[in-house]
Amino acid sequence: MAGTLCFLGGLMFLNAVIKLVECLDLPRIQPFTFPTKAELHTRVNVLCSLSKGTLPVTFMWIKYSGPLVELADKIEILSQRDSSQLQIKNLSGEDVGNYTCVAKNTAGETRFTAELLVEGRKIKPVLQWS
Ligand SMILES: *[C@@H]1O[C@H](CO)[C@@H](O)[C@H](O)[C@H]1NC(C)=O
Ligand SMILES: *[C@@H]1O[C@H](CO)[C@@H](O)[C@H](O)[C@H]1NC(C)=O
Repeated sequence: MAGTLCFLGGLMFLNAVIKLVECLDLPRIQPFTFPTKAELHTRVNVLCSLSKGTLPVTFMWIKYSGPLVELADKIEILSQRDSSQLQIKNLSGEDVGNYTCVAKNTAGETRFTAELLVEGRKIKPVLQWS
């Protein structure tokens, strides 16, 4: 079964073989998206929530290649047993980008990426002659 990892352990006991099977499910992330028209200076929230996966699971958020860390008045991350919420406050042009939620357990890790675009931040070519 996809996303499931099973360990088979054998045990010899009084000439009998007792088989121990333990199955672990990879985390499965419910798809999420940012609001399509996020406005400057507003805040956005996304929830990376698991529909499946053996606990405990640890969460991490990545923007491009770097891990996101909490930043006062800017980035808040609230991780619980089976979900993690990312809140970005006071949106600015610099917040545009791809945000990846990484959920990890003993079976492995799963990633899901969503793109944040900020309204009113289309780069206009500025051609000026003075
Ligand atoms: C939001 O950020 C702008 C600069 O990008 C700053 O001038 C403004 O004070 C901030 N607003 C809040 C509510 O933090
Ligand atoms: C996010 O990733 C996609 C696919 O790699 C890419 O096409 C897009 O330009 C990226 N978005 C931003 C804002 O960098």
